[in-house]
Amino acid sequence: MIFFFSGTGNTRFIASRLAEATGDHIVSIAQAMVDGKFDYCLEAGERIGFCFPIHGWRPPFIVRDFVRRLSLQGYVAGTYCYAFATCGDDVGLTYDYLTEDLQSVGIRLDSMFSVIMPETYNFPFIDQIDTPQNAKRKIAAASQRLPKMIPAIVNRERGVMDINKSRWPRINSKLLGAFFLKHWVTDSKFTVDAGACLRCGKCREVCPVGNISCSDDGVPQWQHNHLCTTCFSCYHHCPAHAIDFAGRTRGKRQYFFTLGPSSSITARKN
Ligand SMILES: Cc1cc2nc3c(=O)[nH]c(=O)nc-3n(C[C@H](O)[C@H](O)[C@H](O)COP(=O)(O)O)c2cc1C
Repeated sequence: MIFFFSGTGNTRFIASRLAEATGDHIVSIAQAMVDGKFDYCLEAGERIGFCFPIHGWRPPFIVRDFVRRLSLQGYVAGTYCYAFATCGDDVGLTYDYLTEDLQSVGIRLDSMFSVIMPETYNFPFIDQIDTPQNAKRKIAAASQRLPKMIPAIVNRERGVMDINKSRWPRINSKLLGAFFLKHWVTDSKFTVDAGACLRCGKCREVCPVGNISCSDDGVPQWQHNHLCTTCFSCYHHCPAHAIDFAGRTRGKRQYFFTLGPSSSITARKN
């Protein structure tokens, strides 16, 4: 069973590749959080995986909340458990947090992996999103690395730490990560330019945690359902670039993952 969370599709791509290679089925953590479903049943010998993006050098908070409430019938000593993160750069101490969360529900993390994918977070003061060329390069590099990483999971290798931690993991995860989580992980900073909004409902459709509804006039409204991890899926998918975060993302690049023939990677609008 592969539990995954993905905002803009990078991690869904990885989880799908792992599912193809292992024959394991995938379960959406976002949907599970919306449904309040935390009880799962493992078949004899079934492996478990957790796939998620890095948010502020930690697992996204809904991934941590989900793990800490998880109840796995059929989990026994020896059940193989791995985690696979996607990141724009590096993971910091993400796996320390995950290991602790898993331990709190009696699950032992055997191996951990990470791969670099296109960046999806728009920092307030710079345009952090990769250029279309960089995004394509990162996806190509990840696609080449994956077949080399997958055998360890298929063969249930333990003690693998195939991760890029960062130069200052403690500062990144503990200091900056805590500040980030406290001040920047909030749906209250999203706004929409009603004049530019096409009323297409795309933002509502792509919000992984069902946090957006459209008012009678079709303009999105954030529901403040406490599940928003600021994954930026709404921002990146808006065809009119009408969604802004904290007044800082207007005109910056958009990106979301697709393997379709038409590129999902769009350059800045102005
Ligand atoms: C809120 C937020 C915080 C992020 N923080 C980090 C980070 O600390 N380190 C990093 O390397 N990438 C960071 N990223 C980039 C994502 O981890 C990366 O782009 C990931 O592949 C996105 O996966 P997804 O498309 O499945 O949501 C962040 C992205 C978002 C939206």
